[in-house]
Amino acid sequence: MSATTLEQSSVLHAVERASREEIRALQRERMAKVLRHAYDNVPHYRRSFDAAGVGPDDFKDLPDIAKFPFTVKTDLRDNYPFGLLAVPQEKIARIHGSSGTTGKPIVVGYTQGDIDNWADLVARSIYAAGGRPGMKVHVAYGYGLFTGGLGAHYGAERLGCTVIPMSGGMTERQVQLINDFKPEIIMVTPSYMLALMDEFRRQGLDPRQSSLKIGIFGAEPWTNAMRQEIEQAFDMQAVDIYGLSEVMGPGVAQECVETKDGLHIWEDHFYAEVIDPNTGEVLPDGEMGELVFTTLTKEGQPVIRYRTRDLTRLLPGTARPGMRRMEKVTGRSDDMIILRGVNVFPSQIEEALLAQDWCSGHFQIRLTREGRMDCMTIHAECRAGLWDGEGLKQEARALIEQIKNTIGISTKVVIEQPGGVERSVGKMRRVIDRRDQG
Ligand code: DLL
Repeated sequence: MSATTLEQSSVLHAVERASREEIRALQRERMAKVLRHAYDNVPHYRRSFDAAGVGPDDFKDLPDIAKFPFTVKTDLRDNYPFGLLAVPQEKIARIHGSSGTTGKPIVVGYTQGDIDNWADLVARSIYAAGGRPGMKVHVAYGYGLFTGGLGAHYGAERLGCTVIPMSGGMTERQVQLINDFKPEIIMVTPSYMLALMDEFRRQGLDPRQSSLKIGIFGAEPWTNAMRQEIEQAFDMQAVDIYGLSEVMGPGVAQECVETKDGLHIWEDHFYAEVIDPNTGEVLPDGEMGELVFTTLTKEGQPVIRYRTRDLTRLLPGTARPGMRRMEKVTGRSDDMIILRGVNVFPSQIEEALLAQDWCSGHFQIRLTREGRMDCMTIHAECRAGLWDGEGLKQEARALIEQIKNTIGISTKVVIEQPGGVERSVGKMRRVIDRRDQG
């Protein structure tokens, strides 16, 4: 890794050294502009501001943002495809989308200026992860409408890295090219990283001997237990990158490798709030709730107070003292499973599984209904070499007991043979809910 310190580097943007007061002053100025831009140019915002009895001139200081209405996913669906653009369509340089679970995708339009800012922010993110110009970056996020592949790609180029645009899939070939091209950095979903790890071993290769030194993992929740597992297996630094299409894509917030203590939000471009998901009330920093973002610089499709459904808390900056951090997102307010009245997050199950010596880390939760009772079955995969041919009955019983005692729910556990749990190529489908099918 380069010996250049953060201070000496020309890559560390001046704003990353700014004080909290300077950042807030910048946010105030940019917030006033974006509220005006949205109100004047997007009929949806004009209507929703008018209905709430507020206008851009009611914004004087940052806390005033609480007077403005939220934007939710259905607002994007209702304005499909281009209803939320704030500039004429010919000024849009690129369109991305996210598939969502039902029906129409969410569409997001970017001006060339937006694309430039995005590349800068992903470059800053890779730098914060320990990446430096000249390093090779293997991008295994999917390329296409999904923001992961192209977002990572242009950011890595902007930093001055050599980009290997692999996209997802073809696991065997991914491992072969990592071996041949020797990238220092990989950008991929954490669940697919586990699949790559297995493939290394299947090919008789020791992941610790690979060239990879930094993994920038995001697009889905993952735990510190999984961080440890990947770091140990690959002898690498594993850091978290966060983002969402509606707000930009990857690079809204990034964990710094020197502290690995949650993700610094790039607050010169995004204003973050945490609200009570039930009442919508803004919560003080440090309290857990739903994350809400306002874009401060987006021209093509600004979003005002977008409810992400992601649960986290805001914390003061550390490695970048002027910017607040968000704690690792371990769940969404809407992927929470309610099992016979108990709230359960897939991350809790993951934590329990990763504490088992026999578990490879691959798992899937299936929800069904038996009679009038919800039933959860955890399909967890056994590590290679530990399979007894029968499903490790004793271990399964011990795990059921442990989950009962720690999480407080009764589950079934099926331990699958190595390779027996479906692999993700992009985002892992952790929960299959068939409760409505009887
Ligand atoms: O997943 C953008 C992205 C690509 C982020 C690559 C990081 C890396 P969407 O497909 O719109 O965008 O999904 C956004 O994914 O609201 C979170 O629920 C989840 N998510 C994204 N990053 C993380 C993360 C991309 N680091 C949704 N930890 C978000 C936990 C994450 N959840």
